[in-house]
Amino acid sequence: MRVGVLTGGGDCPGLNAVIRAIVRKGVQEYGYGFIGFRDGWHGPLEGDTVRLDIPAVRGILPRGGTILGSSRTNPLTTEGGVRRLKENLASHGVDALIVIGGEDTLGVAAELHARHGVPCVGVPKTIDNDLSGTDYTFGFDTAVNIATEAIDRLHTTAESHMRVLVVEVMGRHTGWIALHSGLAGGANVILIPEQRFDVDQVCAWVRSRFTIRYAPIVVVAEGAMPRDGDLVLKDGTLDSFGHVRLSGIGEWLAKEIERRTGKEARTTVLGHVQRGGTPSAFDRWLATRFGLHAIEAVRDGDFGKMVALKGTRIVRVEIADAVAAVKTVDPADYQEAAVFFG
Ligand code: F6P
Repeated sequence: MRVGVLTGGGDCPGLNAVIRAIVRKGVQEYGYGFIGFRDGWHGPLEGDTVRLDIPAVRGILPRGGTILGSSRTNPLTTEGGVRRLKENLASHGVDALIVIGGEDTLGVAAELHARHGVPCVGVPKTIDNDLSGTDYTFGFDTAVNIATEAIDRLHTTAESHMRVLVVEVMGRHTGWIALHSGLAGGANVILIPEQRFDVDQVCAWVRSRFTIRYAPIVVVAEGAMPRDGDLVLKDGTLDSFGHVRLSGIGEWLAKEIERRTGKEARTTVLGHVQRGGTPSAFDRWLATRFGLHAIEAVRDGDFGKMVALKGTRIVRVEIADAVAAVKTVDPADYQEAAVFFG
């Protein structure tokens, strides 16, 4: 048995831990051979491969990024993409493909499996935690820790200058990072895409914070939208899966707060810092277990499935179900945090 492995989409901490677990268990327990495909779907599309054996995965557990590289290449929208991809898999003798990715990368895996018979097993990754079918994706916990540390630091400088500090976090069209880091960091306002916000209400919370002589920290998700406005986009460009690049809402909101309240406001955009560096212990644990269960699914010939976390158990769900709808924050969970606003 020869197993191909690829990592696609935005990178996130824990990718290397998955790869290591797949290879260690696959070689040691099942005697499988492996081949790494470089840069997401670009690898099988172009036949771009890398050696993947036990020496290649030594020492990579705590390393951020991915030894295989990543990209947002979409073979389904590439002329002759599926044919080329299947030919390359056949010429490299690949019997099964483990696809580590988010909604887009796994969406391709679901389609390749269902319509073109490519034997894929999926592993859910993304700092955004927006994949359905799994309680958590790996990478999310690390991003939340990084954002929480930033919020902790911003509290002290905001209070020294009695300024408003707006922290813009990633998460695309969901507020998981904003809600979890905002709660953990004691933010005074948390704004998420799932619920449009009223700028006047945000300003009221900001003012009330100043009356007790504490400077407010506002955590805003990059996809959050004001009640009467639209998404703030970076430059309107789309990636190969048709997603617009977000970011800018933090800057916009700080200006509005300053204009309406007369209080000095600054913005910190955390950006790709949230995706970089070593994974948290939780993400290493989760990514490792996902890897171990993914290679088990290959051994069982259980293709078209994604490994997923349910409580503390690793289960298998249909990849197609996991990518069918984005997993959003429950309004009740957001409401729970409102006691700390203002
Ligand atoms: O999906 C992960 C993510 O980091 C999002 O939170 C963010 O909107 C996007 O990727 C950024 O993409 P890129 O790395 O292509 O700028």
